Amino acid sequence: MSSSVNPTRSVGFFRDESGRLSCDGADLSALAEEYGTPLYLYSEAALIAAWTNFHTTIAEAVRHASHEAAEALVCYSLKANPHLALVSLLRSLGAGADLVSGGELTRALAAGVPPEKIVFAGVAKSQAELRQGVAAGILQFNVESESELADLNAIAEGAKHKVAVALRYTPDVGGGGTDKITTGRAGDKFGLSRETILQLVSQDLQHDFPHLDFAGLSVHIGSQVFDTASFRSAWQKLLRLFQEAHAAGCTTLRRADLGGGLGISYGTTPAPSLNDYAAEVASFTKDFTPLALPAVADAETPLVLFEPGRRIVAAAGGLLTRVLRVKDEAGRRFVLLDAAMNDLIRPALYGTEHRLEAVAPPVSHQKHTGKPTADLAGISVAGPICETSDVFLPERAPEQASAWSQLQEGELAVFLDTGAYGATMASAYNSRPPAAEVLVRADARHKCITPRRTVDSLMESETIPSDLL
Ligand code: LLP
Repeated sequence: MSSSVNPTRSVGFFRDESGRLSCDGADLSALAEEYGTPLYLYSEAALIAAWTNFHTTIAEAVRHASHEAAEALVCYSLKANPHLALVSLLRSLGAGADLVSGGELTRALAAGVPPEKIVFAGVAKSQAELRQGVAAGILQFNVESESELADLNAIAEGAKHKVAVALRYTPDVGGGGTDKITTGRAGDKFGLSRETILQLVSQDLQHDFPHLDFAGLSVHIGSQVFDTASFRSAWQKLLRLFQEAHAAGCTTLRRADLGGGLGISYGTTPAPSLNDYAAEVASFTKDFTPLALPAVADAETPLVLFEPGRRIVAAAGGLLTRVLRVKDEAGRRFVLLDAAMNDLIRPALYGTEHRLEAVAPPVSHQKHTGKPTADLAGISVAGPICETSDVFLPERAPEQASAWSQLQEGELAVFLDTGAYGATMASAYNSRPPAAEVLVRADARHKCITPRRTVDSLMESETIPSDLL
């Protein structure tokens, strides 16, 4: 079996000297025994490494390009993985939080994220969510509609301070990995056009929105962005809008929220380099700082905000699964796992693929005496859910399926890079309780951070009307 796990990788999922796949030295077979499968595993060391790398590089780029006049604030995007343990770890490393719901706000606060490091984004926040954010005293709301602005102004009336807002700009630059996760184009539901923003900030803001502080502009063009030139186009447009807004009389704008979206490698195509991204950040910051400085009040510095999710948490996570059945039918092999689309929906929803690696060393597969694959038309990897869409790796010719064509019944394998948008998008479809979650810590110690739920616990909140009992 060929391995796509980087043998030089020293944190996260890598093969040990014996060739077995491990998570920071923890024995995956033992974890499967102890907690059962499917099981999400997170490497604490990989999460720390990804955060530190991103934060250090970006903070330095902002500091340097602004000659120490501006600062970066990195707000981890909770939607990628909102688990309290992971958010608490990131918070302990200095992370802020980017969130899109009252639920995520509750989680960020429960994980101890300071309100002054919290940004509340989201295309349509409810009145209750706006109230919750104001009551918590968060750093800023990224506002996406005129009526939201009016509602927030009304809610902010009772607050001690003006409530800070950043208007989310739609630059008409798309950048996402697939159509479904591209957000920056005109016609997408997100943000406000240049015209709307200019018309808004040209008003007598003191008069029309006396309880709001127009602190900045924000932009987010999509997720799993691979081309750093897309960031450049969007951010150049954002800079022009800062200039135009200033010329229109809005002199308070001092924060630029550049969103998230930096992609990771899910396979053979290398991810955009953090240094290339940082170079774009530096180039933006250089021009942004002089625009923002005049707007800065006493205790503040111009702020460049970031909302990374996937880049922080994806590679730290893996979904451990066991092969339930292997069957050859109609000239095709189906490798059927105990993980399903309810555990990891990205392949079914977006048609994307996650690398699947056997836990056993590659050598044991060379000795494999199982059924030959040569005559097969194709091999696919699927889950047990009763839907054709429950396929993780669609059919390919045996020679192109080398990494998983030899998987046998009872074997363990891991879907790599599933720390982001994995467990958080899980459901209980087919009455399958979502996978348990385990955090692998230093010295291969491990801690169950979400126990496996029972079907009874799924049914607990359901009520049968008395006449049907
Ligand atoms: N900020 C905003 C306003 C966002 O909408 C998102 C992601 C992020 C930050 C974080 O983006 P990241 O750095 O993680 O790319 N479920 C999809 C991804 C949806 C992303 C939605 N917004 C997937 O599994 O690929």
